Amino acid sequence: MSGREPGSDKDRVRVGVIGCGAGLFHLEGYAEEPRAEVVALAGLDTDRCRELAGKFNVGQTFGDYRELLAEADIDAVSVVVPNHLHLPVTLAALAAGKHVLVEKPLARNANEGRQMVDAAHAAGKILAIAFNRRHRHDMELVKAQVEAGELGRVYYAKAFWMRRAGIPGLGTWFTNKEQAGGGPLIDLGVHILDMALWLMGNPTVTRVSAATYAELGPQGKGNWPGSRFRQQAAGGYEVEDLATALLRMEDGSTLQLETAWAAYTGMSDEFGVSLFGSKGGAEIHVKDYAQTGTLRVYGDYGDAALDAAPRLVAKHGHGAIVRNFVTGILDGTPVSPSGEEGLDRVRLIDAIYRSAAEGREVEVGNGNRGTGDGAS
Ligand SMILES: NC(=O)c1ccc[n+]([C@@H]2O[C@H](COP(=O)([O-])OP(=O)(O)OC[C@H]3O[C@@H](n4cnc5c(N)ncnc54)[C@H](O)[C@@H]3O)[C@@H](O)[C@H]2O)c1
Repeated sequence: MSGREPGSDKDRVRVGVIGCGAGLFHLEGYAEEPRAEVVALAGLDTDRCRELAGKFNVGQTFGDYRELLAEADIDAVSVVVPNHLHLPVTLAALAAGKHVLVEKPLARNANEGRQMVDAAHAAGKILAIAFNRRHRHDMELVKAQVEAGELGRVYYAKAFWMRRAGIPGLGTWFTNKEQAGGGPLIDLGVHILDMALWLMGNPTVTRVSAATYAELGPQGKGNWPGSRFRQQAAGGYEVEDLATALLRMEDGSTLQLETAWAAYTGMSDEFGVSLFGSKGGAEIHVKDYAQTGTLRVYGDYGDAALDAAPRLVAKHGHGAIVRNFVTGILDGTPVSPSGEEGLDRVRLIDAIYRSAAEGREVEVGNGNRGTGDGAS
């Protein structure tokens, strides 16, 4: 992947942000990064885009993304649009010579994701993905401890993201199968799948057994009260509202995954990852996006059981994602999480949906597997 253009004297990256919903998190990230400047914003919701442009001092606003790509003087874009547009917007941006930071999930499926990764390679541009939750302090600490061998062999992990009433917007693109590609599995599950596999050291997944359900959404129940979206229609709920999966790895370890946008549970909006190792364990449990008080670690202290809570600091995940992206562009350093890592996760999501549809355990083809921890 190429970094800075040869002979370029640029020491700042000029960026366009496409999408004015979660595009806010990207604007906040770039605002923390002295070597980047957001100069253009695109979105169909003109009022919100203008409001964000004013707040973050962005000079140009556009409606459709094609106008931004044609007119703005930029080196890179953040792609923060509904899932079905990740592929066309990324391909258009790469064709226009821009580096791309795309929101999760990389795409609706591995076929689309593969096209994005190949196009970035062919263009010699960076394709990065916003797995922002890897940069929480609890995640970073556990990752470092696993890598240092402190947990021994991690043989079992559990990951969950459960909401009592958290459908992002009943009747919006989120609940439309064609536009979203799926429900909570592709929306929230992709985050916890990524965090768990990354913490485990990216073991190779060989088999998946999964089930999905749609029980509350089709009844018009479970819309997220804190959502930016108003409920637009009670009908037309086309995706799952709960998914569960068991993933088996080549090294014998397993991962149990559970995610719901809406379910009768005491968890209002909670996610986490637990790791069980031969020498120690770690449990991250995040309630309502708390940044501290979320990690407990387990081990031995002499002949007593150790149960401790490291002190944590709050961190803005998109800030770290943006910094890696900008560093990759200007300094030519490998970018992680990369598009290939994003592709690996959608490939597994495809297998989870396939297992659920077929009602049996399925093999995961490992051809074209992403590089995991490696460079893009
Ligand atoms: N990493 C995270 O924490 C996080 C959080 C929320 C959403 N997301 C991801 O961000 C993406 C967008 O989700 P959202 O919640 O912001 O959705 P949203 O519906 O709130 O926003 C989508 C934006 O895309 C714009 N858009 C649509 N078509 C466009 C076009 N042709 N040209 C230009 N702009 C266009 C819309 O006008 C809107 O501004 C999704 O892929 C979602 O998974 C990530």
